[in-house]
Amino acid sequence: MAKDTKRFGVSLPKGLLKKFDKKIQNEGYNNRSEAIRDLIRDSFLEDKIADDQEVAGTLTIIFDHDSGELSHQLESIQHEYYQKIISKLHIHLDQTHCLEVIVLKGKSKKVKAIAKKIITLRGVKHGKLTFSYSGHK
Ligand code: NI
Repeated sequence: MAKDTKRFGVSLPKGLLKKFDKKIQNEGYNNRSEAIRDLIRDSFLEDKIADDQEVAGTLTIIFDHDSGELSHQLESIQHEYYQKIISKLHIHLDQTHCLEVIVLKGKSKKVKAIAKKIITLRGVKHGKLTFSYSGHK
């Protein structure tokens, strides 16, 4: 156990604990502590998102390579928000489809707004934003 780690006991109804153990086993956790740590961090992240605090976000989109207009619009948005869009990964999925992972950092509302702007562009076939911490926790 790490020096800055503290152990505590949790009481749970047996049935609930059994369900929890089954769930975390299916998700690949080796022990309850690791699963509970992740749940707690997730709940703090939800608060950060709700309170419009600094977060990191990854936006994954799929679009048609042939849409020249869309590629241009995507470039324009990324230049416009160059301080919030910190990286991009472009993959040519097949002959017609592109996948992009756009990494954003900023206040959660702004990150959401930029992601919405991109997802709703004509020609974007699928888009999904995922939040994470912008700093170590
Ligand atoms: Ni491509």
